[in-house]
Amino acid sequence: MTKMMKAIGFKEHLPIEKENSLVEFKMPKPIAKGHDLLVKVAAVSVNPVDTGVRKSGHSTLKIPKVIGWDAVGTVVSVGEEASLFGKGDPVFYAGSFKRSGSNSECQLVDERIVGHAPTKLTIAQAAAMPLTSLTAWEALFEQLEIDPAKQKSNRNKTILIINGSGGVGSIATQLAHWAGLKVIASASRSETIKWVIDHGADQVVNHRKDLVEEVRNLGYHYVDYILELNDLDGHWNEMAELIKPSGRIASITENRRPINLHKLTQKRAKFAWEWMYTKSFYQTSDMISQHNILDQISKLLDQGIIKSTLNKILFPINVSNLKKAHKLVESNHMVGKVVINYSGI
Ligand SMILES: NC(=O)c1ccc[n+]([C@@H]2O[C@H](COP(=O)([O-])OP(=O)(O)OC[C@H]3O[C@@H](n4cnc5c(N)ncnc54)[C@H](OP(=O)(O)O)[C@@H]3O)[C@@H](O)[C@H]2O)c1
Repeated sequence: MTKMMKAIGFKEHLPIEKENSLVEFKMPKPIAKGHDLLVKVAAVSVNPVDTGVRKSGHSTLKIPKVIGWDAVGTVVSVGEEASLFGKGDPVFYAGSFKRSGSNSECQLVDERIVGHAPTKLTIAQAAAMPLTSLTAWEALFEQLEIDPAKQKSNRNKTILIINGSGGVGSIATQLAHWAGLKVIASASRSETIKWVIDHGADQVVNHRKDLVEEVRNLGYHYVDYILELNDLDGHWNEMAELIKPSGRIASITENRRPINLHKLTQKRAKFAWEWMYTKSFYQTSDMISQHNILDQISKLLDQGIIKSTLNKILFPINVSNLKKAHKLVESNHMVGKVVINYSGI
């Protein structure tokens, strides 16, 4: 007989205040095959992708869609081709855009995008990390092509991180600092200014003011790298003005209107996108790099070189707490990360 498990999802794309915006239901417990691990979920975190997918669409679905990407849990069983993990291993991961999410008792995930969970952090501290760490790592070290091993020469280079206090910015500032760069992070309130300094920013600018003036007031005419983490349209002209000739810009947010690449022509500056899901979405040959990145993040966390960006814990995992977390993320003023777990640790 098929075993059933609890899950939380939605059939209608409703505002979070509506009763059915998220609902609990039962679904068959999946079975691990191939490269998959079946993981018993212990804690999840909510990202803007959760609220975006929940809200966007008009049709009513036949069966509820389970979302949730970040998760920490324990491996319950493994598929016949899995070799990186065994039953009982504590793991953390950000999952795939295409598959059923982490807001369920158990979840299937391809082991090539899973890392060993850090051993010195609480479950909640670890659950805050996977999606944002993968995004920040790939943006900095793959798309901006910064070499973290060259800490000495990186000291002469400056990066501007727009949105230093959100989930991605809070880990990106730490990783850029670890790579040796001078980090200018943007924050607009006293709480977020303090937060970005605590998380590795050397200097702070205000993204509610003119960023060109803000950066120039600090004594920099241009910066070597820019990492854009909120409102590409709103910050495009400032970035084109501030980037150094031959500098590099990466963005993780989508433009709503055409961006004028012409503005980078004379500077021959490079522009790159980062999408954390690309590797699993297209099953790229380097997909296993996400396993390696998460294992490195795990080590850096256990060594205390970087710290968890957890800022709020809710428990237990239920509809009410998941709705609270969605509401916080939708505010666009989230500082660090919100996590929901089965216990309070
Ligand atoms: N491409 C990918 O793979 C990927 C991965 C993760 C996230 N994302 C996207 O990247 C964005 C950031 O994600 P996140 O998780 O870091 O978000 P988040 O945690 O929700 O970011 C919240 C922060 O944004 C800041 N902010 C608000 N308006 C801003 C503006 N106009 N300019 C600069 N900062 C602003 C706020 O600071 P103040 O309150 O101080 O203003 C707040 O602290 C989202 O759009 C998300 O969908 C993409």
